[in-house]
Amino acid sequence: MKIIIDTPEKVAEMAAQRYVELLKEKPDAILGGATGSTPLLLYAELARLNKAGEVSFAKAKSFNLDEYVGLDGTHDQSYRYFMDKNLFEHIDIDMANTRVPSGINTEIAAEYDKEIEAAGGIDMQLLGIGNNGHIGFNEPGTPFGSITHVVELTESTRQANARFFESIDEVPTHAVTMGIKTVMNAKKVILIATGKAKAPIVREFIKGAVTEEVPASVLQLHPDVEVFLDHEAASLL
Ligand code: PGA
Repeated sequence: MKIIIDTPEKVAEMAAQRYVELLKEKPDAILGGATGSTPLLLYAELARLNKAGEVSFAKAKSFNLDEYVGLDGTHDQSYRYFMDKNLFEHIDIDMANTRVPSGINTEIAAEYDKEIEAAGGIDMQLLGIGNNGHIGFNEPGTPFGSITHVVELTESTRQANARFFESIDEVPTHAVTMGIKTVMNAKKVILIATGKAKAPIVREFIKGAVTEEVPASVLQLHPDVEVFLDHEAASLL
């Protein structure tokens, strides 16, 4: 596991360069996308680089990690909407090549892994990390062998995400998420964590035991992971 520590802006720039390098070498790369506050600086940088002609997503395909159950893509808190507004509408990707698991047709959740496999597998998966160590919506206790599935969100995750909804009651109780195995199947993983609140879990997933109780700790077993941290998130390492 490679660890890179810098300011949030520099971290976003360096992570963006991984996309530039990958897409130069493989223009039709399969990208794994993430939502949340953390990737916003990275997505803004990718939009800037795309506009400047330094990277093209025209042939790339993208599979997002997760989606809330019950929200369709027009809901402004759905992850499909988030990706459209924060990335896809600002770059030259073909919308037909962007996939987010359906929060409505959840009975076909496991098909998502087959789709990813049929596309050739994810070349580079982007991750954030929850305060409880979740990656995607794989909450503590999720089996490492899991593929895309429906999960019940923990109270702490619902509270963490309530800031985007009018009240906690409106935060969905379930989500569909790539499983741990789906994530581990990616050829390369980049994880970004910024801010003081992430410092304890950053220390735990990097230095602690590999355990299903800390889902991100599984990344210690992945052969190609880069962790991008700002100074605050890295402060307990
Ligand atoms: P955040 O979410 O980027 O909004 O902190 C990360 C996550 O929950 O995976």
